[in-house]
Amino acid sequence: MCGIVGYIGDKKAFPILIGGLKRLEYRGYDSAGVALLNGSLENYKKKGKVSDLEAFVAGKADDGTIGIGHTRWATHGEPSDKNAHPHVSMNGHFSIVHNGIIENYAQLKRDLETHGYTFASDTDTEVLANLIEYFYLQDDEMSSEAAVQLALSKVVGAYGIAVLCKKETEKIVVARKGSPLVVGLGSGEYFIASDASPIAEYTNQVIYLNDEDIAILQKDGFTLSNVQNTPVSLKISNIDMEIGAMDKGDYDYFMLKEIHEQPKTIEETFRGRLQNDYSEIVLGGLLNVFPKIEAAKRIVIIGCGTSWHAGLIAEYLFEEYAQVSVEVEYASEFRYRKPVLSSDDVVILISQSGETADTLAALELAKSKGATVIGICNVVGSTLSRETEAGVYTHAGVEIGVASTKAFTAQVTVLTMIALKLAKRKGTISNDDYKMLVKELAEIPEKGRAILSDGEKIKAIAEKYHEAVNALYLGRGYLFPVALEGALKLKEISYIHAEGYAAGEMKHGPIALVDNNLPVVVVAPQDDYYEKVVSNIQEVKARKGNVIAIVTEGDKGLKEMVNDIIEIPKSHPAVAPLLAVIPLQLMAYHIALLKGCNVDQPRNLAKSVTVE
Ligand code: G6P
Repeated sequence: MCGIVGYIGDKKAFPILIGGLKRLEYRGYDSAGVALLNGSLENYKKKGKVSDLEAFVAGKADDGTIGIGHTRWATHGEPSDKNAHPHVSMNGHFSIVHNGIIENYAQLKRDLETHGYTFASDTDTEVLANLIEYFYLQDDEMSSEAAVQLALSKVVGAYGIAVLCKKETEKIVVARKGSPLVVGLGSGEYFIASDASPIAEYTNQVIYLNDEDIAILQKDGFTLSNVQNTPVSLKISNIDMEIGAMDKGDYDYFMLKEIHEQPKTIEETFRGRLQNDYSEIVLGGLLNVFPKIEAAKRIVIIGCGTSWHAGLIAEYLFEEYAQVSVEVEYASEFRYRKPVLSSDDVVILISQSGETADTLAALELAKSKGATVIGICNVVGSTLSRETEAGVYTHAGVEIGVASTKAFTAQVTVLTMIALKLAKRKGTISNDDYKMLVKELAEIPEKGRAILSDGEKIKAIAEKYHEAVNALYLGRGYLFPVALEGALKLKEISYIHAEGYAAGEMKHGPIALVDNNLPVVVVAPQDDYYEKVVSNIQEVKARKGNVIAIVTEGDKGLKEMVNDIIEIPKSHPAVAPLLAVIPLQLMAYHIALLKGCNVDQPRNLAKSVTVE
């Protein structure tokens, strides 16, 4: 949520900043800007996409080897030129970019007004810029980093910031608390970014800043301390990021590419983990905590959005196979409840980005109660992966489409492996069932490929329904969370109002919505619920609803009954979510495209929600 970049070195900064902002655009895309130190402090910002900024600045910012940039997802103040970052302090000494929310900005603003400060934007960030300047001007000896430090000591809230000072022409000051920042170490040059993706093409050596770290970047050196002014030791990490993975390749949109990558990414997720002819599941990152997971009377799973849906599927898996009680929580709710947790509990936090503010706050709360905290995360080196006791990376590769697809199936794959391994260790699954399920999991990529090769049929169905205003998604058991995920995909990218429901609950409300305009997507493969779901379909048909059914290949019973049918290969119910979700992703994609929506950057959303 909001992307920050920075560069200091001997190269021209502007192209590096723009390239970096394009990589970070998934974090926000309502306005963008850059500031360059080039003898003077130049500031350029514009409402719209990074490409609008690029066109606006063309030919104006050819020089300058030090700069910062920002792509915004609005919190305080509507998307506009004036609210875009960087924000310049009133007397022009500082230019800053910021990711996060300054919660006490109103009070700080009032205090600054009493000192004569006026404000040109509606943002909390401008308040911080002016606060830094206020301290800077109090003392002729004051350095920019000291002013930043003083200002941050007054701030309540979250920040990742990069600051340029007009008088200190060879320096960028950066700091973080609650919003991620990575520093890339080049030779005689440094890079800054909200995640490693803009840095990977220049260097593989990075430092992930920790909360309250302040770094001073100069061409010939780098120092790190914290808001309390105590020195901090440097921990350099190596990143291994494939640049090609950040391009669309032959696809028009990242989302379509990522949907099609799923057979491969699911293979990546279990590569090296399903061993010895699948008779063993090895999860190195959980080695030390497995005894605790085994002993746990309860497992609490926490996430947001699509990651929460993956958690719901895990609830069914863990209960059925490992016979342990599971609670699945929205991180945003959990963090403000008074949860009853102790050192006997295991908390699993799921996050693609590993930077979602609510999930990180839930993590801290769980830790403070003494629970064992485990992360399931896609982004290597993210805050979640660093702050949890143990964890499993999903290895889905960089996911850029704002609507999550391949990260979801990778999360479900990891959770299935954990559930089966736990069940085996606890002796709650027979050897035969264990082997059968591991084999079923291993067969998913091939079956996924078969669904993807049927893409044209799904596109034709999308053509029939893309003008709908509402849609209902129904599923039961393992496929209830898939119905929720299908509805979320549709509303996220096509702006059609869609609700996911447990099919058995339809009669308690949603059935009132059914008429001949309502598409009802029913996930109805042949499993223990099949007959019951068929009854639910009858209820929809009796009220003239249009049913699109996702069925097991060869299903004859539903063909005559429903309006449209999508077949998926036969699989065991416990792994069926990994297949059933694919046609729902594709249908949402095609409907959104037909409606002329930007599927990779849907309005109002951001991929990584690093504010509350
Ligand atoms: C945002 C994204 C969703 C994602 C959710 C949780 O809302 O738009 O696609 O599911 O955040 O993100 P996380 O990175 O924690 O999985």
